[in-house]
Amino acid sequence: MNAQSFFASLWNHYVYYTPQAKKVHDLFAARGETVINDHVAFRTLSDCSIDIAHLEPELLAMGYQFIEDYHFEAKKLVAKSYRHADETLPRIFLSELQRHLLSSESQAILHTMVDQIPANPVVDASIFWSGIHWQPVTFIAYTALLKESEYAAWMSYMGLRANHFTVSINHLKTLTDLQPLLDVLTAAGFNINDVGGQIKGTPAELLEQASTMADKVQITFADNEVATIPSCFYEFAKRHPDANGNLFQGFVAANADKIFESTNAM
Ligand code: NI
Repeated sequence: MNAQSFFASLWNHYVYYTPQAKKVHDLFAARGETVINDHVAFRTLSDCSIDIAHLEPELLAMGYQFIEDYHFEAKKLVAKSYRHADETLPRIFLSELQRHLLSSESQAILHTMVDQIPANPVVDASIFWSGIHWQPVTFIAYTALLKESEYAAWMSYMGLRANHFTVSINHLKTLTDLQPLLDVLTAAGFNINDVGGQIKGTPAELLEQASTMADKVQITFADNEVATIPSCFYEFAKRHPDANGNLFQGFVAANADKIFESTNAM
């Protein structure tokens, strides 16, 4: 699969669960903007056949190159970022929950999930919109995961799919700063994640980011409980040049730490 058809399919699967992203995209298009994505982010679980080590070859096969590793101690995550030689293609941010660092109760629930994943599920890049590879968990199990790790709870019902696309503000012509962009979105009725303030990062840190709060999806759990809970969100990023005049290509862990909370249930 070439990268262009990969992102076209990925976007179609993403907006199915994230209708606000299509609305924001259309709002920008109506202003005459061409939306270029800064990055797309995925979540997954450690030590299984859809962990980062199993997914990475599909990215490399599309021409992606590894940039950097990240660690999120409190959230018990690691992540890797990738970029493509074609700069109109988004960077990829791939994070992974370190299952062995969770409580034995959470580990047991996650174990029942990953136990159901087929031995070799990664056939091609469509794995990145494959969703859950296990039967739905019970609402009790979901609630137990949520108490310890919002990320684990989200994975239990959303699985492997684009967690967010990110608009590159550097490529916009009419909204060249985050605050005016957020003002336009707020006026249009979109909810912005304000954990640690709406804008995460500063020009001095070379990366400023903001995001909407996730859309909601109705999930039927294994015990027939039905709940309306967070699906996916849309992000906005502005990159700044470093002291040598090179545009910053990485990610800032402190920003990402707060962006993760865009799928908080409250
Ligand atoms: Ni992001």
